[in-house]
Amino acid sequence: MKIKNICCIGAGYVGGPTMAVIAAKCPEVNVTVVDLNAARIDAWNDADLSKLPVYEPGLDKIVEEARGRNLFFSTQVEEAISKAEMIFISVNTPTKTYGSGKGQAADLKYIELCARQIAAVSTTNKIVVEKSTLPVRTAEAIKSILDNTGNGVQFQVLSNPEFLAEGTAVADLLQPDRVLIGGEQTPEGKIAIQALVDVYASWVPAEKILTTNLWSSELSKLTANAFLAQRVSSINSISELCEKTGANVSEVARAIGMDSRIGPKFLSASVGFGGSCFQKDILNLVYIARSYGLAEVADYWEQVILMNDHQKNRFAKKIVRELYNTISGKKIIFLGWAFKKDTNDTRESAAIYVANLLLQEQAELAIYDPQVSEKQIKSDLTLYTDLDADVIANRVHVYKNTDNLFEAAHAIAVLTEWDEFKTYDWATIYKQVTKPAFVFDGRNILSKHELIEFGFKYFAIGS
Ligand code: NAD
Ligand code: UGA
Repeated sequence: MKIKNICCIGAGYVGGPTMAVIAAKCPEVNVTVVDLNAARIDAWNDADLSKLPVYEPGLDKIVEEARGRNLFFSTQVEEAISKAEMIFISVNTPTKTYGSGKGQAADLKYIELCARQIAAVSTTNKIVVEKSTLPVRTAEAIKSILDNTGNGVQFQVLSNPEFLAEGTAVADLLQPDRVLIGGEQTPEGKIAIQALVDVYASWVPAEKILTTNLWSSELSKLTANAFLAQRVSSINSISELCEKTGANVSEVARAIGMDSRIGPKFLSASVGFGGSCFQKDILNLVYIARSYGLAEVADYWEQVILMNDHQKNRFAKKIVRELYNTISGKKIIFLGWAFKKDTNDTRESAAIYVANLLLQEQAELAIYDPQVSEKQIKSDLTLYTDLDADVIANRVHVYKNTDNLFEAAHAIAVLTEWDEFKTYDWATIYKQVTKPAFVFDGRNILSKHELIEFGFKYFAIGS
């Protein structure tokens, strides 16, 4: 079976880049990405490629190549569903904020809405692909909705989780470590799996395309994120021990990473992991384990989140302690607000939590991030903290560039590892700030030796 028309529901950080790459690599397939959010769709269609709603290195070129040829962004959800033989569901699956499972379980209301809409609109057979990250066995619920509409259309549900990381999305999509496709092990299921394998085979080597049963595929996604986040929490836990003992966490990471069984990646100690998925997916895993009565399994994974919360708190508390236990009225600079470099995404960024704690201590924050707007920063603080509106309005100062940023600052905190921070003229900055001058490097990106030489009191994570 050859796929000619693909529809993707959800034009977010996953749907947009993923479909742009499929369209670029499969010029014979028409790809339509739909979303209810008209502003987002307009931005995807903007002639000015710097206005795309997702900032990812290299994405503008890919979109430019395919958009209008075989890549389309639209709000006409029903039309796109009805034309396509294959429909990706790439909508958000946030943590539930109400009812049972509040604060842990995945909220599947958007997924269910998509399934119902596909069921209502379809008049020809469809392959429905779960691209969103979902609890194991969600395909069963989707299939049940699709199969009970009584219009005689045959549906196959596949699981095809996405492993791209933000900031490197295009490279991850062009050269994935693997593509995972789960499906029913029936003759029809196998045909559907093969149809999706054929799409990816346009650019992904065959040995990197794994096929499994549905449940293994769904669970592998949660497991991959849990393992990745666990590595960060593990090295962060060791960073605190390093600070007490004179060991250096970068040296420890290097030493253990050279063991081929451990490997060198994902061992950078930090102010704490952020991003829309690690916390959400682990909480979901914890919830699933508890719902099967597996208390020890749930507790084991929950510790990864508790360690991360501790790391964020610890960083904020260290700033307060080193600044003589009072930061009231002191200007503290945040370099970075995004949850990692090379993205404009701020979801669950450690910066939000650290800012909250410092503002509660009455600090004045001066924030600069090369890709995040003032509107976004203030909205994050409004939505995800309990701070009063006047605190956010009057004590949070967002800079568009570094002009006058450093004047009379009491401390500088690095929250995101943007490369440009390394290139600053730190000797001149030293002259502009209040003395003693403090730098708290939450990403270990600056040169300790140089900063100390210029006169700064420099604090890294884990040394
Ligand atoms: P997002 O919030 O950026 O995008 C989701 C989009 O879906 C939104 O634009 C929303 O308007 C749209 N939407 C919701 N319901 C809709 C409906 N019924 N019809 C049409 N549009 C609808 O989310 P995201 O970051 O792209 O994540 C999507 C999924 O992919 C999540 O399950 C996430 O866990 C997973 N994931 C994300 C990443 C990542 O890096 N962000 C990586 C891998 C997997
Ligand atoms: C992560 C996974 O890496 C992707 O494979 C997955 O598809 C995605 O989640 C998802 O499901 O959403 P992402 O969150 O975009 O990708 O970015 P990561 O590079 O994993 O970084 C996550 C957080 O961990 C960031 O805040 C980062 O700064 C932090 N981190 C990462 C560290 O503190 N230390 C490290 O060594 C690595």
